[in-house]
Order: sequence, then structure tokens, then C-alpha cells
Amino acid sequence: MCVSIPMTSGDSRASEQILLATSHTLFVREHNRLARALHRLNPHWDGEKLYQEARKIMGAFIQIITYRDYLPILLGNEMQKWIPPYQGYRETVDPRISNVFTFAFRFGHLEIPSTVSRLDENYQPWGFRA
Ligand code: HEM
Repeated sequence: MCVSIPMTSGDSRASEQILLATSHTLFVREHNRLARALHRLNPHWDGEKLYQEARKIMGAFIQIITYRDYLPILLGNEMQKWIPPYQGYRETVDPRISNVFTFAFRFGHLEIPSTVSRLDENYQPWGFRA
């Protein structure tokens, strides 16, 4: 199988490492699955419209994973303090990410185990002998 994520993602880091390659491939495939489903429902939509609508849904998926699943585990009791419940869209809020955030948020690398096993069909690490 040929995965051309680095060529098509616009960022060579997308498959710099096997975990990045697998998660990005999963999201690209889900995007394409949604685009095909939207095409069946809306055969009159052109490619650009299908792309943008599937992209919106994927954006929402990632927000759910981040805000519902990931951040409460990360922040625990501090969640309410730093990220209060959503009050609705505010046009005046600047949604851009500051340059320094891209460095500070790399702290997440500390959450990743130093070795990651590749599992077989029984969810056992390859080459593992009990
Ligand atoms: C298996 C998990 C992960 C892998 C393999 C991974 C790998 C990478 C790599 C290769 C880079 C680019 C480094 C460079 O070229 O300077 C990067 C950047 C970054 N990573 Fe991760 N990372 C992982 C998980 C995380 C997590 C859990 C977080 C935060 C919660 C995180 C936050 C960041 C940030 C903020 C950047 C900088 C992005 C940018 O400047 O555009 N990463 N990561």
C-alpha cells in the first residue's frame, strides 16, 4: 500500500513517524468516506462543495475528540476553570494560534510512551514471547 500523505497534506511532518502517518491516514480516509456519502445524498454538489462540507464535519469530530474526550482527562478538576461550558459563537474572538503556542503545546510529547508496540491480530506486540 502506498500512503502519499506527506505529498498531499502540505506538511512533510504528517508521516514523519508511524503514529502520525496512521492517525493522519485515518482522518483523510474518513474525510473521503464522508465526501462519498455526501455525494450520494447530494448528487448536484460539485467537488469543492463536497470537500468543504466533509471538512466541516471532520473539524467537528476533532473538536469533540479534543474538548469532550482529551482535555477533561488532561485538565481534570481544572477543566471548568480554564475551559468553561461553550456559550455560543463569538465573532469578536480571534481564532488564530499564536506562534508561541506551537512550542508550548509540544508538552504533549511527554504524554507519549517512549516505545510504541505494533500489535498483531490478537492485539499482542509483534515478536512478543510470553
Ligand atoms: C504519537 C504522538 C505524537 C507524535 C509522533 C508527534 C510528533 C510530532 C512531530 C514529528 C512534530 C514536528 C517537530 C518539528 O519538526 O519540529 C510535532 C510537533 C508538534 N506536536 Fe507532536 N507528536 C505527537 C503527539 C503530540 C501531542 C499529544 C501534542 C499535544 C497535546 C503534540 C503537540 C505538538 C505541537 C504543538 C507541535 C508543533 C506544531 C507546529 O509547530 O505546527 N504532539 N509533533
